[in-house]
Amino acid sequence: MKIIKLDVTTSTNDYLKNLSISGNISDFTIITANHQTKGRGQIGQKWDSQKDKNLLCSIYTRLNIATKHQFHLNFAVSVAVLKTLDYYKKNIFSIKWPNDIMASDRKISGVLIENTLTKNTITSSIIGIGVNINQVVFDKQSSKATSLANIIGEETNLDEFLLKLISNIKKEIELLQKGELEEIKKKYMANLYKYGIDSYFSDSSSDKFIGKITDINSDGKLVLETVIGKVVYGIKEIVFL
Ligand code: BTN
Repeated sequence: MKIIKLDVTTSTNDYLKNLSISGNISDFTIITANHQTKGRGQIGQKWDSQKDKNLLCSIYTRLNIATKHQFHLNFAVSVAVLKTLDYYKKNIFSIKWPNDIMASDRKISGVLIENTLTKNTITSSIIGIGVNINQVVFDKQSSKATSLANIIGEETNLDEFLLKLISNIKKEIELLQKGELEEIKKKYMANLYKYGIDSYFSDSSSDKFIGKITDINSDGKLVLETVIGKVVYGIKEIVFL
């Protein structure tokens, strides 16, 4: 394991990607930054974070997983982030599909996983994780965000958090590599936000509807029970209201 700490970079994922392209990279190389000028979120969104306050990290790991199981990597990483937060405050965090970590209805962490594929296999992955740790004020756009400090009322050492996170990620990835897919999914489902609860959603064809999450299917899609029966949604196809 090698940790490279940067003061500022565009995006720790991009920095790690460039490092991996240069060829000289060992397994579990980790980049952290105090600040990102072009922090990236899922589906082309940006990731804002107040300088020096939060954990911004990317982890490079070599893998050997069939691409059809790529969702299990998402499950494994989400579970690892949740387990880490759980050390600080028990039983309040959940995983919002696909891999946001929530504290009640507010987002505390986001994950951006970028895989390298060879034929039908994921051979390596860059796992980017942002966790709001010590930031206490969020702008209006991020009004649905919160941080560990807002929850526990005190600051947390970022290095200490990072080491716990890395250890949890290693454990979950080991399970994944051993093929313990059901166990990983079980832990993910046990902590899934709004699982089995009638909730409001919207999709491209309707304003607002009530549905209940009943499963995640083998493609990693969200399965909802609604008045018209079972409906399956991919990313970008549904919004939690
Ligand atoms: C999301 O919820 O949309 C995913 C956010 C991922 C943010 C992290 S911060 C560290 C790493 N570098 C990035 O540019 N993004 C990820």
